[in-house]
Amino acid sequence: MKVVVGSASQRLAARVAKGLKCGLVRREIRRFPDGEFYIRLTSRVKGERVAVIQSTCHPQNDNLVELLLTLDAVRDLGAKRVTAVVPYLAYARQDKRFRPGEAVSFNTVLKLIRMAGADELVTVDVHEGEKIGGKGFPVENLTAMPLLGKFLGKMNLKDAVAMGGDQGSEERARAVAAEMGAEHDYLEKKRITPTKVLTKPKKLDVRGRDVVIVDDIISTGGTVVEAAKILRRQGARRVYAACTHGVLACDALGRLRAAGVKKIVATDTIERRESLVSVAPLVARALG
Ligand code: R5P
Repeated sequence: MKVVVGSASQRLAARVAKGLKCGLVRREIRRFPDGEFYIRLTSRVKGERVAVIQSTCHPQNDNLVELLLTLDAVRDLGAKRVTAVVPYLAYARQDKRFRPGEAVSFNTVLKLIRMAGADELVTVDVHEGEKIGGKGFPVENLTAMPLLGKFLGKMNLKDAVAMGGDQGSEERARAVAAEMGAEHDYLEKKRITPTKVLTKPKKLDVRGRDVVIVDDIISTGGTVVEAAKILRRQGARRVYAACTHGVLACDALGRLRAAGVKKIVATDTIERRESLVSVAPLVARALG
């Protein structure tokens, strides 16, 4: 097995290679004067099993094109088996035609990865994981929730609760809580009058307790900000946020801080300061 290090996943790829005790494939990558990429593999891949590790986080389109060019080169240079490891898969949330005429970008991206030469795709916590099957090639959707739970379990939280922001996140909260040795719940919306909706934890009283809001992705922060406000009104002691993909677009960090979120715990599917948990062991296991 050899690992190709994508520009967006340098630390993760190095950790995976270390975990697998395998070699790294070097690349020369630069831009032509007009902005196009130039990519050249400087290690041999002929006859090898190769994993290309590259998240397609911001700048999504550049990272995606870099991934596609690399996959195609690896395939063309004679690799025996090519695995695309895309820990954060851009465009995955546009997984259906919500309004007539929309591009189903998720399908397009999967087609491109396959056509570029990947024999299989490994990714992490795709929003609607069940929609990833039946795309014409094997796709493995790993989950980082237990790893997040392990990390949170060591944070000395008081009487902790893992809380999904909505019913769709309940399973994630459950997986995190199981590793934390904590309870879990989710925020439920209840219509009180025709014009009034009350949102609160479905079953638990969070008064005086530390609560971790669990989600697959924090993008603008809007979902967590709303949840944090509700939990603080309900008397939570401290509010934290944990997610697999810390997209943290625009001023998400500022908004989360202003809403009283004490700490954000994300993984290195997107490499940033908040990536306190590495998905390397998960990826290494999937490749091993
Ligand atoms: C939605 O269902 C997802 O699980 C996330 O809650 C959502 O994508 C987060 O986006 P934002 O941070 O922009 O609210």
